[in-house]
Amino acid sequence: MAPSGKSAAADFDLYRPSEEHDMLRDSVRALSEAKIAPFAAEVDEEGRFPQEARDALEANDLHAVHVPEAYGGAGADALATVIVIEEVARVCASSSLIPAVNKLGSLPVVLSGSEELKKKYLGPLAAGDGMFSYCLSEPDAGSDAGGMKTKAVRDGDHYVLNGVKRWITNAGVSDYYTVMAVTDPDKRTKGISAFVVEKDDEGVSFGAPEKKLGIKGSPTREVYLDNVRIPADRMLGDEGTGFATAMQTLDHTRITIAAQALGIAQGALDYAKGYVAERKQFGKPIGDFQGVQFMLADMAMKLEAARQLTYAAAAKSERVDSDLTFFGAAAKCYASDAAMEITTDAVQLLGGYGYTRDYPVERMMRDAKITQIYEGTNQVQRIVMARNLP
Ligand code: CAA
Repeated sequence: MAPSGKSAAADFDLYRPSEEHDMLRDSVRALSEAKIAPFAAEVDEEGRFPQEARDALEANDLHAVHVPEAYGGAGADALATVIVIEEVARVCASSSLIPAVNKLGSLPVVLSGSEELKKKYLGPLAAGDGMFSYCLSEPDAGSDAGGMKTKAVRDGDHYVLNGVKRWITNAGVSDYYTVMAVTDPDKRTKGISAFVVEKDDEGVSFGAPEKKLGIKGSPTREVYLDNVRIPADRMLGDEGTGFATAMQTLDHTRITIAAQALGIAQGALDYAKGYVAERKQFGKPIGDFQGVQFMLADMAMKLEAARQLTYAAAAKSERVDSDLTFFGAAAKCYASDAAMEITTDAVQLLGGYGYTRDYPVERMMRDAKITQIYEGTNQVQRIVMARNLP
């Protein structure tokens, strides 16, 4: 099973996974190919949630590997989590959002939650009894997350939440939602607090699924909070610390989007490699032409560079190094740009066939695009990097 978080920093150096990580990769790859890949095209075509993937991941304890052992989880380190997401994304990007967003949604609880909240929410997550989503963005607060309008007003020993959260991955499927809301409008980012909201809380409802270019199997919906009254002890950390918790979370989880990008790109490269060996034109496999070989070489080179940066960032996430903010943003930005180029080239290598839904590379190209956009656009990543130059 996944390498334990306790000795993680010693388990792997900056650039090289341990033997245990390699074994984890082998087992997730086998599971993904057997139980997730067969449904990937159908999930995309029908825009339906990949329940088969959820079942397979939960049955094998791979749906939220980051949850610490103390709360019933596998206690996987950051690199192991990256490897799980990478291998699932290699066959189905939509399915890879199950482990990725379970980490994104629950990391604020890990980082800032009280012991009671950790026990209450991380246990069920680890047991497969409920997924987690992360609610930061709003219709008018995307890149400018600090400009959010959702309010949480204290009322005795409760808070009452009102507002709209947008672009919420796995909304409607998840049972638990980390919601950032304004508790003091005069203090901008210092007046934002984080809460756990449950799907069944009165006043919680969901918008229609967004009609997206890719990751069609992962529902993206608005979350409406209409006088949602929750106990005050569902706040994560102190009042006013929610924005910092949200940003700290993204420092760690942008690396999981990099992992998703790596997986999508690897899936496209693997497919294109096989195709050029089979496809014959001018009397020989097109892979014998140097122009095609150069394209594959560039794809593999970019992918490996992205992987090294992502694994380095994962090591920094595990150790919470002082340059994590830069590395998290850099890994996400670089890997997602690489994935977009690699998947586009994979479509090119398959020619007309690559442009059809009879082959998986057009899905991979569409899925890759979102990795340049969510968890902060790559333009926002550059703002973050520039403010945190090493
Ligand atoms: N760690 C800890 N605290 C941090 C922090 C970090 N990395 N970054 C900021 N903060 C805190 C600091 O306390 C800071 O205050 P100080 O000035 O006292 O240091 C405070 O937050 C405000 O920070 P900024 O002044 O940098 O805030 P800003 O308004 O300029 O915004 C930003 C910065 C980087 C643009 C930020 O708004 C941002 O990241 N925007 C993008 C939002 C985003 O990534 N959304 C993704 C949504 S999730 C998603 O997409 C999920 C999905 O579907 C899968």
